[in-house]
Amino acid sequence: MAPHSYSILLYTLLTFSLSFHGISAVQKYVIVNEAPKHGGGIKFEKVIGGVPFTKKLMGTINMYIWNTIFKQTTAADRKPVDTVEVFIKDFDGAEAITWGNNKINVSAIYLRDYPGPLTLKNEFTSLMYHETTHVFQWTGEGKCPVGLIEGVADYTIMRVNLYPPLFAKPGTGKKWDQGYDFTARFLEYCDGLVPDFTAKLNKMMRFTWDISFFKNLTGKPVEQLWKEYKAKYGNIE
Ligand SMILES: *[C@@H]1O[C@H](CO)[C@@H](O)[C@H](O)[C@H]1NC(C)=O
Ligand SMILES: *[C@@H]1O[C@H](CO)[C@@H](O)[C@H](O)[C@H]1NC(C)=O
Ligand SMILES: [Zn+2]
Repeated sequence: MAPHSYSILLYTLLTFSLSFHGISAVQKYVIVNEAPKHGGGIKFEKVIGGVPFTKKLMGTINMYIWNTIFKQTTAADRKPVDTVEVFIKDFDGAEAITWGNNKINVSAIYLRDYPGPLTLKNEFTSLMYHETTHVFQWTGEGKCPVGLIEGVADYTIMRVNLYPPLFAKPGTGKKWDQGYDFTARFLEYCDGLVPDFTAKLNKMMRFTWDISFFKNLTGKPVEQLWKEYKAKYGNIE
């Protein structure tokens, strides 16, 4: 009897600590709809699912980025962020903007006028994966190319399969740091050469940036990698 109870207790403690480790995303997500009467703010509540949906989504995205995208298994590997704030707000000129290290503003105008082809809920979800990647990624203290920063953010939406049909096809693009979907496809190619390449590159970019990171990881300079990537797909545009 006693050994049996003991093993149940042990099991309970073990599963508790394992699941605790598993759910330890950032401590807090603050979601504010600052445009509740705006067409986009109304769609945020009625079509997307509003604050409750977004809060849950942010936790899912957070864990996906740490575990699947960046392979950061310990707190020491991760960017120390304890709160992420999201504002739905009436502003023009961008779909969304990530600012101040842990804050994301989403344009109510964009939500109101988004024409498809994704459903609005999927488009919003995709946008949040992209912007939240900016919150958690390393950028060599801002020294790495902007095209690479945007490429890593689009790499996340590519990996999670939430991107529009016009997303770049493998092999397309003019240079490795063109940005967004073009750079995402190139990173995908590099993953094929070196397992977890993108996660490893992100890790190297914690404190600084150097173009030689590509050579360090693959044995080849980035220009050569790009040439071989283009050649693999017949040098398509
Ligand atoms: C984002 O929205 C917040 C809340 O309204 C505002 O204080 C902040 O200035 C905005 N940031 C940018 C970069 O527009
Ligand atoms: C590349 O790898 C070498 C050998 O491991 C190391 O000495 C060097 O510091 C690395 N360079 C960069 C830029 O990380
Ligand atoms: Zn971006």
